[in-house]
Amino acid sequence: MLTEKQRLEIQACSKDEKSFDTIMEIISFQHKMLEKTKTELFSVIGHELRTPLTAIQASLTLLARKGDELPPGKARQLFEIAIENSVRLRDLINHFLDLQMLESGEIKLQLQTVELKPLLNQAVNNLKLLAASKQIELVLCEKVRHIRVKADPERLMQVISNLLSNAIKFSPTSSRITITVDKSGTRGRFSIADQGPGIDESLQPFIFDKFVQADVTDGRRSGGTGLGLSICKAIVAQLEGEIGFSTATNAGTTFYVELPADPQSTA
Ligand SMILES: Nc1ncnc2c1ncn2[C@@H]1O[C@H](COP(=O)(O)OP(=O)(O)O)[C@@H](O)[C@H]1O
Ligand SMILES: [Mg+2]
Repeated sequence: MLTEKQRLEIQACSKDEKSFDTIMEIISFQHKMLEKTKTELFSVIGHELRTPLTAIQASLTLLARKGDELPPGKARQLFEIAIENSVRLRDLINHFLDLQMLESGEIKLQLQTVELKPLLNQAVNNLKLLAASKQIELVLCEKVRHIRVKADPERLMQVISNLLSNAIKFSPTSSRITITVDKSGTRGRFSIADQGPGIDESLQPFIFDKFVQADVTDGRRSGGTGLGLSICKAIVAQLEGEIGFSTATNAGTTFYVELPADPQSTA
């Protein structure tokens, strides 16, 4: 809390006893909130980082102690567990640092005029092999031509890739994902619609919160870090845009992003 010197300084600045009490109340409240956030952060980070690290350690320990005696295939399986979990750990740390820098304003976005369709096309090309591995068709539909927005292309690409890879991850095989470019009033808009299971009602209000993930049927999570949508939200907020979704059980999910249109755009 405050030192006696700081208390006296605040007291000197405040006009009367009442405003001093109010300032002290605000400081004390903010202090409590900060402590709460810190505790939550340590507990979540502790858990999220420890789980993959434990899996890596267990696999490598078994390999080191019993590697020679293991049946064929078992050693490879243990290596694969170690690799998969180190990738998860790396992604978690990268996503977490990204989010932290975005939220603290350390990452300064480079705003420029960006045409939506070519950027979406590039994302489709980057992810088409992943989609093909599940026989998912990616369809890009331009309702209004040459929509240009004010954005940082690299960061916007990060948003598109996160949303599109989620759509692919949660889509059933042999389904379709439709990416639509449109306008909404004075804004440019794109949406990504899948034919997946939808987002559970209980999760919907928290879907952009950190580490929120639906449990899949066997009670485990579907991989990923649970930070993708939080990163999307933080980037879109910095671009002064809006991100949202509509979803229905077994009828698919559509995520949309609206961004301030560039004045030269037809939007
Ligand atoms: N298109 C989607 N369809 C169904 N559920 C989704 C979709 N996109 C996101 N989700 C849900 O939101 C959660 C959080 O997404 P995200 O923040 O990108 O984390 P991750 O992809 O690493 O799990 C996902 O784990 C999933 O439960
Ligand atoms: Mg994701």
